[in-house]
Amino acid sequence: MIPTIVITPEVIKKLIESAHEAKKKSHSPYSNFRVGAAILTEEGKTIRGCNVENASYTLGLCAERVAIFKAVSDGYTNFKALAIACDVKDADLAPCGACRQIMHEFGGEYKVILSRTDFTYRTMTMKELLPMGFGQQDLKRPRMNYNNNN
Ligand code: THU
Repeated sequence: MIPTIVITPEVIKKLIESAHEAKKKSHSPYSNFRVGAAILTEEGKTIRGCNVENASYTLGLCAERVAIFKAVSDGYTNFKALAIACDVKDADLAPCGACRQIMHEFGGEYKVILSRTDFTYRTMTMKELLPMGFGQQDLKRPRMNYNNNN
């Protein structure tokens, strides 16, 4: 049975610390914009990611997606929370649209913690970040028959 992780302020603090640690691994020589992310899985495991840029600029990947892809490829697909960290002064970072869609794939219930450099934070739900998100269920909806002429 999967142990139930309770999201206490202490748990959130640790996850934010992990996101800031992850940020230190950022490979962002082109933007000089470091981002870190830390996922807490339902099993209580923390998985980190940072943004990884590339000399072929468009191939870079955001921290949130790196963390999610790491988690999924290690067999973790049920998340309790995801914390995000960057270096912006006096503000948090709202995840980009592409990351919101990837985050949405793995359940609409978990908390997204947007942290600041002083480790203060605000918590948002996936539904607040991506209302009406496109998901697996949409692909199962009845569709009209088609051919290439209609
Ligand atoms: N970035 C993230 O890692 N997460 C976001 O939610 C927004 C942007 C990264 C991508 C790129 O490496 C750098 O920040 C500047 O856009």
